[in-house]
Amino acid sequence: MPKVRFEPDGIEIEVPVGTSILQASNMAHSQVGSACGGVCACSTCHVYVKEGLDELSDASDREEDILDKAFDVKANSRLGCQSKIQDADATIVVEISRESRQAFLDEHPEIRAALKAAKAAEPGRDPAPDPAPNDR
Ligand code: FES
Repeated sequence: MPKVRFEPDGIEIEVPVGTSILQASNMAHSQVGSACGGVCACSTCHVYVKEGLDELSDASDREEDILDKAFDVKANSRLGCQSKIQDADATIVVEISRESRQAFLDEHPEIRAALKAAKAAEPGRDPAPDPAPNDR
């Protein structure tokens, strides 16, 4: 079964062929945003594929149009909801974009609050700033 690893958290999961990176993220409880629900309309699932780019479905013209609206687009940028794993032996390594993680935390304020509380509770630490403030 293909493997997907999400960086920098190091979360890893095995998923069936045909699974999208966004679906893998949801299965692994990783933090890829999905404001449009995975219908290629928002770019909040923007990720960088560090390994396994060739093992994913090709980007459609629509995906490339949406990616043009994302922040800090690179040669290995993909939309997580449109990138489906095609090889059973694939290992896909994904770096979640800052934009995507912020979108995820905007969508899950309870997780943002828990992360903030955990940071504030670290010994010898001043109250932490928001772990990923929405600075858009
Ligand atoms: Fe909106 Fe992927 S979740 S484009």
